[in-house]
Amino acid sequence: MKQNVTLDKIVALCKRRGFVYQSADIYGGLNGIYDFGHLGFLLKNNIRKSWKKSVSNVNIGDVVFLEGALLGPRAVWEASGHVDCFHDPMVDCQNCKHRYRADHINLEKACPNCGQKKWTEVRQFNMMFKTELGAAAGSAAEAYLRPETAQAIFTNFKNVMSTARVKIPFGIAQIGKAFRNEINPRQFLFRMREFEQMEIEWFCRAQNSDNFFDFWQENRLEFVKNLGIAADKLRLRPHEKDELAHYSTKCSDIEYEFPFGWQEVEGIAHRGNYDLTQHTKHAGKDLAVFDDATKTSYIPDTIECSVGVDRLFLTLLFDAYTEDVIDGEARTVLKFSPNIAPIKAAVLPLTKKQLEQAEKIYKDLKKININIMFDVSGSIGKRYRRQDEIGTPVCFTYDFESNEDNMVTARDRDTTKQKRIAIDKIAEYLCDKLK
Ligand code: GAP
Repeated sequence: MKQNVTLDKIVALCKRRGFVYQSADIYGGLNGIYDFGHLGFLLKNNIRKSWKKSVSNVNIGDVVFLEGALLGPRAVWEASGHVDCFHDPMVDCQNCKHRYRADHINLEKACPNCGQKKWTEVRQFNMMFKTELGAAAGSAAEAYLRPETAQAIFTNFKNVMSTARVKIPFGIAQIGKAFRNEINPRQFLFRMREFEQMEIEWFCRAQNSDNFFDFWQENRLEFVKNLGIAADKLRLRPHEKDELAHYSTKCSDIEYEFPFGWQEVEGIAHRGNYDLTQHTKHAGKDLAVFDDATKTSYIPDTIECSVGVDRLFLTLLFDAYTEDVIDGEARTVLKFSPNIAPIKAAVLPLTKKQLEQAEKIYKDLKKININIMFDVSGSIGKRYRRQDEIGTPVCFTYDFESNEDNMVTARDRDTTKQKRIAIDKIAEYLCDKLK
């Protein structure tokens, strides 16, 4: 039975098992910035792979990929509206100097930190990280770390169209880092200052854009469900007019029910032709598309799907986290779908006497390019618990009988049921499980 998953338990498990570390931990850490350990790296890669597959395999047109730069000149962010509009309201407590996002606290009440009610005026705080390129001072050298990956897609729209020889409708997809100077980074990987986005911009004619908006809403919901996330914890919520970002005419969020409430995991936005029109004006370059049939030019509309790798990572952890009791003993288990699990199987010799034979199985399995772990230390029960806690779907134990019958014990993570399988059928058994 799923019980009492809390943010603290997730943070502790991530550190204990090497999924995520606080960045620069030995220097006291950096707020809102994290490093990913071996298991975190593998889990992130599985998320990226699944996302890439889900956006590539659509039957409505081509999708091509881009890897844009992290830094962009001020002109890009002026055109996109981020210089003027990418603000959060900020307020300080004059007594204890704590800083808050004004829309995240009740200013009628006292400061949650010191209990005094001495607020400053609410000010607008731009969330972009600014830097200067080279040694020259002045606005010409001003650059910003990108707050979303999308703008590199818009500024390269014509480059991609002409070199990839794609026709409307088509999509440009990108995975990469984004940076936001969040006033209060919160809830671990939920709101970070440096994070990773997976975005697709789908370019289409205005008259088809509503249909494509509906298509992408369904496609994205299907994607998160296919990752194994419980359907009853997911919902699609259309934005109210006053919630819309400066660039979008309509937007829906895929939300997950976290212990801290329903929160956005992915956003699907109808950006109209806002971005390409803005870049046309600001850069003075023609970004319109010529339609051979009507012999007219038009600026396409864009439907955007945007999801954070890290936020999805956190969602998967919350959804998979389970505490149960097996044979009177409590355990923690991450019930990841086998596809997403960072380690697919563990090979365990029952005692050191079976080391050599078990190692051979481990090495053979590695040859089929699947992430496998080999664990010899501790009692077999302890080793099973370790694998449960990192979400390994199956363990193969080489035991006393294995020498006689050429079989191992396959132990299922979720049911803990065990069955004997032939050593030469292990790879087949595992591949079936991963399907
Ligand atoms: N290009 C559109 C865009 O950036 P957004 O709603 O600001 O839209 C999209 O961000 C997704 O990026 C969110 O749904 C979330 O998954 C992720 N995201 C945004 N800000 C984040 C942050 N500070 N930390 C972690 N993930 C974040």
